[in-house]
Amino acid sequence: MITFKKADEKKVSKIAQKFASLLYKGSVVLLFGDLGSGKTTFTRHLVAALDGNPRQVGSPTFTIVNEYNAKIKVYHIDLFRIEEEEVMELPIEEYLESDGICVIEWPEKLGMYTPNDFFKVKLEFLDELHRNLEIFAQGEDCARSLKNRGEFFAEIQET
Ligand SMILES: Nc1ncnc2c1ncn2[C@@H]1O[C@H](COP(=O)(O)OP(=O)(O)O)[C@@H](O)[C@H]1O
Ligand SMILES: [Mg+2]
Repeated sequence: MITFKKADEKKVSKIAQKFASLLYKGSVVLLFGDLGSGKTTFTRHLVAALDGNPRQVGSPTFTIVNEYNAKIKVYHIDLFRIEEEEVMELPIEEYLESDGICVIEWPEKLGMYTPNDFFKVKLEFLDELHRNLEIFAQGEDCARSLKNRGEFFAEIQET
């Protein structure tokens, strides 16, 4: 697990940039955190780091899934407005098994569709301008790519 304390948005952007370099085709990123903790903001910086257009990243009001053309295609899924029982009505497995990167807000609702291998990013509201972040890896593939990355992230942990 890698933790970042009291990150302002500039630092969140740097974290997202570094984190983006760990992702590959088929990666799944589950974003945990309350409303306003910065899940969509993190996604915006992640998409920018993957050479996508950050201005396309918003909290979709009517769509549950947004697709962005980046270096690797990004599927941004926001489960906030749907019930856990409705997840099965989405082609969720197709997204999860696709060659794109899946970034999922409110992943608690995935239930049985939670994959075996994923990165977990936990965001916590600290004050108006600052958040605490934690990055975990679940499953062998993600754990391998996060392993020994302490130094890689250290330079932004300290600034
Ligand atoms: N350090 C920070 N990290 C992330 N968001 C921040 C930070 N400081 C301020 N914000 C603001 O907080 C809000 C977070 O909203 P959003 O990303 O939509 O949250 P969520 O998707 O978790 O509901 C945005 O308006 C963003 O600009
Ligand atoms: Mg959001």
